[in-house]
Amino acid sequence: MDACVLALGGSLLTDDSTVFGDWIRGVARILEPRSPPMHPTVVVVGGGVSARKGISMVINSTDNPLAHDRVGISATRLNATIIRECLSAYGIIVAERLPSSASEAVEISSNGVVVMGGTHPGHTTDYVAIEVASKFSAGNCIIATNVSHVYSSDPKVDPDAMPMEMVDHETLRQLVGEPGDHQAGGRSVVDPVGAALAREKKIELSILDGKDLVALESAIIGNKFRGTRVTNN
Ligand code: UTP
Repeated sequence: MDACVLALGGSLLTDDSTVFGDWIRGVARILEPRSPPMHPTVVVVGGGVSARKGISMVINSTDNPLAHDRVGISATRLNATIIRECLSAYGIIVAERLPSSASEAVEISSNGVVVMGGTHPGHTTDYVAIEVASKFSAGNCIIATNVSHVYSSDPKVDPDAMPMEMVDHETLRQLVGEPGDHQAGGRSVVDPVGAALAREKKIELSILDGKDLVALESAIIGNKFRGTRVTNN
């Protein structure tokens, strides 16, 4: 059984319907050969703009971080519904419901490609994907985001920031920070809580730009891809 767990960053859901339509059709084509139950596949979708907008709307009314996270989770589930409906329209057999926990995702994965959003407050959908990978005892989790690589420092502030093809978990920890650094709507390349879980469970990460369908397909089939491999050592 070769489980594939894929986190799709919410920023990949652009509201340009032509760009989005072309992209999701490409994702469906890549997922087509992954028919369950032999090839369980779970796609965990982030909240993107909807999550950030929702969180910024409640922030003046409540400083309860759980409330912020719950709004973020609702946005991820809306985005997951969008992705699920599109994949189904392009002929992918999808599981009949959006699971609300990593265990439920594994349970229903023999029914079709599972598409889901967030689960509980305190982390992002990167963590959820890594948790699902851990429940499958998968050695790898793909994080498809809006940047092509992990950089040696923040490229927005450091002109000398270098894209890295391979880093170990310890280096990733130094770059993204400690699990306590989780913040609703935070923007690090991988959620520090997820990075810590991957480090603990010895799950390698394939981090890539989700718009780059060649890289995404290569990572899914286990080939070399354009992006960063986070290794156990
Ligand atoms: P995302 O997974 O979308 O985080 O969750 P993100 O870092 O903004 O990722 P991209 O940009 O979409 O890829 C959005 C927010 O929803 C809450 C958190 O507040 C998170 O920052 N959330 C999400 C949870 O609390 N639990 C979850 O399981 C998922």
